[in-house]
Amino acid sequence: MADNDSRAGARYYNEAILDYTQRVHASHDAGLTRAFATPDGVPAIQLGMSEGKLVHLLVKMIGARKAVEVGTLVGYSGTQIARALAPGGHLWTCEFDPRHAELARANFAAAGVGDRVTIVVGPGVETLPTLNAHGPFDVVFIDADKQNYEHYGAWAIANLRPGGLVLGDNAFLFGQLCDDDARARAMRRFHEGVAAACDSVCIPTPDGLVLGIKR
Ligand SMILES: C[S@@+](CC[C@H](N)C(=O)[O-])C[C@H]1O[C@@H](n2cnc3c(N)ncnc32)[C@H](O)[C@@H]1O
Repeated sequence: MADNDSRAGARYYNEAILDYTQRVHASHDAGLTRAFATPDGVPAIQLGMSEGKLVHLLVKMIGARKAVEVGTLVGYSGTQIARALAPGGHLWTCEFDPRHAELARANFAAAGVGDRVTIVVGPGVETLPTLNAHGPFDVVFIDADKQNYEHYGAWAIANLRPGGLVLGDNAFLFGQLCDDDARARAMRRFHEGVAAACDSVCIPTPDGLVLGIKR
């Protein structure tokens, strides 16, 4: 398919195809349905269903036991990660907003993963270093404030085991990745830091998902 990959603008999917494949491969049980629903006042900025399933499968594929997430929201991606962990596994998920953390706590319990998830409330830049002693980690999933991705990426590289995964959502920065401003430059440094330390790719999901395997 190399010819197709290089054909600018080529797209072989539409809404119907995305709906169908999502339904067939990535449908939700009650726990995921609950964590996917954002109540009034909480923005619906969680992963899409197929992206959530992709993250779940990646975590499962490497037999991960220890995972860190930056950006819990109300626990959708966290549920996907926690359910994919090997027996005895644990997820530490960092969330700035106490209301999001409270809602996520209830959703994790309802999804049956409350005992394998710790929610760490506060700004990720400050809370991540408190997790160092639990490492090295198998997976770090970054999905929070975009201006700090460079920082979160560097923390991930320093605290992942060789062969561990770093994942970063919104890696196209809502279409602004190649703009000439401080936030875009910081996001490009995140890409470049991951590429320097990992075997990596940016998967063209709607807003880009960086995947790196630490060397
Ligand atoms: C895109 S949402 C996360 C979605 C979630 N990963 C999912 O797919 O279900 C981003 C979350 O990061 C949180 N956040 C924003 N700035 C943060 C920071 N500095 N540290 C930790 N969390 C932060 C927001 O409050 C929000 O809940």
